[in-house]
Amino acid sequence: MKTRLVFLGPPGAGKGTQALLIAGKYSFSRIATGDILREAITRETALGRRAKDFMDNGALVPDDIVNEILREKIESTGNGYIIDGYPRTIPQADFLSGVASVDMAVYFDAPEDILVQRIVNRRVCPKCNAVYNTSENPPKTSGKCDRDGSDLVHRSDDVEEITRERIKTFWQKTAPLVDYYFRRGLLAKVSAGRTLEEVTAEIEQAINSS
Ligand code: AP5
Repeated sequence: MKTRLVFLGPPGAGKGTQALLIAGKYSFSRIATGDILREAITRETALGRRAKDFMDNGALVPDDIVNEILREKIESTGNGYIIDGYPRTIPQADFLSGVASVDMAVYFDAPEDILVQRIVNRRVCPKCNAVYNTSENPPKTSGKCDRDGSDLVHRSDDVEEITRERIKTFWQKTAPLVDYYFRRGLLAKVSAGRTLEEVTAEIEQAINSS
């Protein structure tokens, strides 16, 4: 079984949703650079102040910042992990290969028209990072997290204009990683435009394949 995974794909493809499900089911750790950066912004740390403008504009945070975050996290993580939203550039992937092993990179392939729709309807729990969708995957009680009852929030970068910029950034900077991992024999492509359950099943099949 593959236990050291990278989740790769455009905004709204479902990486975070599936990372939580799969990590919970197999007791893997989940490292999500986007969540770590948002928490730093909320806490107004030096890291948060450096990252904020990039994130507000749909751009990538510079490699040196995210590489350092990744190094710290991976050092304190056990054998099974999902790295969600990292690497996002070839230099990040090279950095990762120097500090940790990757058994499989799962590429979430989804048609662009559904990405924006999913993102503008997304609501997240600021406490446990659970992800909901007002039309596809709503919480049991409107506006409240099913797990801990926290008030759900709408991410400030989940507006259409910034989302389109983030998608553009994905194609410019991150999409070359699909070929990067393919050439290394590590790529698994999943059809992320399907239902939550279908996507989970496809990922599980990939990680359990020899
Ligand atoms: P990050 O937080 O990583 O955002 P992202 O990659 O843009 O991805 P999203 O979280 O938007 O989408 P997702 O694929 O996780 O989808 P989700 O599961 O939530 O990064 C934010 C920013 O931080 C970046 O723009 C950048 O500035 C910075 N950053 C982070 N990492 C960085 C790095 N390594 N280098 C540089 N900068 C970095 O699902 C979306 C919605 O769809 C939800 O509402 C969900 O309920 C719904 N949904 C999910 N799956 C399905 C399905 N199968 N069917 C129907 N609905 C679904």
